[in-house]
Amino acid sequence: MPINKCSNESLSEFVDTSDEWISKRSGIKNRYFVSDGETTSDMAYNASCIAIKNANINKNDIDLIIVATTTPDHTFPSTATLVQKKLGINAVSFDVQAVCAGFIFALSVAKSMMSEKLYNNCLIIGADSMSKLLDWNDRSTSVLFGDGAGAIVLQKFECNKNIYDDWGILSNVIHSDGNFYDLLKTNGGVSSNQSTGFIEMTGKEVFKHAVDKLSSSFEEVLTFSKKNIDEIDWLIPHQANQRIILAVAEKMKIDINKVISTVKDHGNTSAASIPLALHKAIRTNKVKNGNLIGFNAIGGGLSWGASIVRIGKPQLL
Ligand code: ACO
Repeated sequence: MPINKCSNESLSEFVDTSDEWISKRSGIKNRYFVSDGETTSDMAYNASCIAIKNANINKNDIDLIIVATTTPDHTFPSTATLVQKKLGINAVSFDVQAVCAGFIFALSVAKSMMSEKLYNNCLIIGADSMSKLLDWNDRSTSVLFGDGAGAIVLQKFECNKNIYDDWGILSNVIHSDGNFYDLLKTNGGVSSNQSTGFIEMTGKEVFKHAVDKLSSSFEEVLTFSKKNIDEIDWLIPHQANQRIILAVAEKMKIDINKVISTVKDHGNTSAASIPLALHKAIRTNKVKNGNLIGFNAIGGGLSWGASIVRIGKPQLL
């Protein structure tokens, strides 16, 4: 996370809002903002170093870097190539852009590329500086977002035993529907007006789509994975809004105690939200080696999807 923490009370000093309104509508209490000169690739690099250390691998073994981001350092080249340069390694590197669903899309792309047997160790990073897209005069969006980055390492294991069959990414599903393009977008872009623009959102409509599509994609991925909801140890949803998280849990009939929520601590960090929540859940000893985890996310596009992953490494006998 960047070091600049901003509570609802601090935000209320320059946005016409209140802790009460933000807490009640979204569950958010704090968010973090990048400092002057701090970029998405800086946060992505920091998160990568932590992920590589925790995975206990040599950084030179990484052969693929995918950064999910909507807020790159530059329009081009990709932020992933900057992370590669900062890490000082050789790896195929590129960005994916599916806004808040970016991390799920990156998982899906990585699984396909690793299945082709070309890549063995993939660094996946969700990183966004959403504060750069906020219009501080629009209180209905500016209070919801923050900056951050999270990263994971995906490794390919092969052995004769079928011990690995039920490990790693069991299934991913991803969807997009441009008919909902205008519900959540920026009002600028390179080829439209040569600006980055600010976030515009039809909040109530997005809310309904989020509950519906987060639930349906999770049902779908459970079916693909031949799992039922009771077999899931933890659901780590996109951290946008506590009311959305609660509504999805209710719709899916999943025990709320199995749902990881960190949105109060950092607001909506877009593609970073799932890996950040996963990191906190591991650090606080909730998620453990061998747990079956569900992820689901939705963002502008609309783009949405879900994954089922058994995380960690099996102990070989
Ligand atoms: N502080 C104080 N008052 C506010 C604020 C604010 N920050 N923002 C809006 N208001 C006021 C409005 O002006 C309005 O006042 P009025 O009744 O006098 O006209 C009142 O609050 C209600 O506004 P609504 O827009 O109707 O508020 P709603 O209950 O729909 O909540 C919200 C808005 C939180 C955005 C909600 O629609 C929502 O959660 N949508 C989901 C969107 C989301 O989470 N998006 C994240 C990105 S997408 C994703 O990641 C899934």
